[in-house]
Amino acid sequence: MLKLDHIGIAVKNLALAREVYSTLMNEEPYKKETVPEEKVTTLFFKAGDTKIELLESLDQDGPIRKFIEKKGEGIHHIAFEVPDIHEAVRDLKKKGFRFVDENPKKGADRKLIVFLYPKNTHGVLIELCQSLPE
Ligand code: CO
Repeated sequence: MLKLDHIGIAVKNLALAREVYSTLMNEEPYKKETVPEEKVTTLFFKAGDTKIELLESLDQDGPIRKFIEKKGEGIHHIAFEVPDIHEAVRDLKKKGFRFVDENPKKGADRKLIVFLYPKNTHGVLIELCQSLPE
């Protein structure tokens, strides 16, 4: 069984979104992190056993900016935690899944991440993530 690690939400303005989600969830984010490789700044809120990740594009041609131009703000991806991301990629490839890029990369929140190709998963962008030791 895969554990839901977080839900990623694409936002235009992280400061405004932070206000809204802090008020809604009645708590402050526990982490803010910029990931230059992914051209994104992220804010994380705890939500029980899972998390909400707000994502703002670092520049005009980042993937989050492109997503918002096409679809508007909203849910961008859902992420499942896996114990071994390389093994998960091998296993899912054998089962016919495809990946946006099958080489895991460093993401926010001390994780290795990889994205499945959303056409295979009924239009949902699914991230697999593996926690790295501190
Ligand atoms: Co994510």
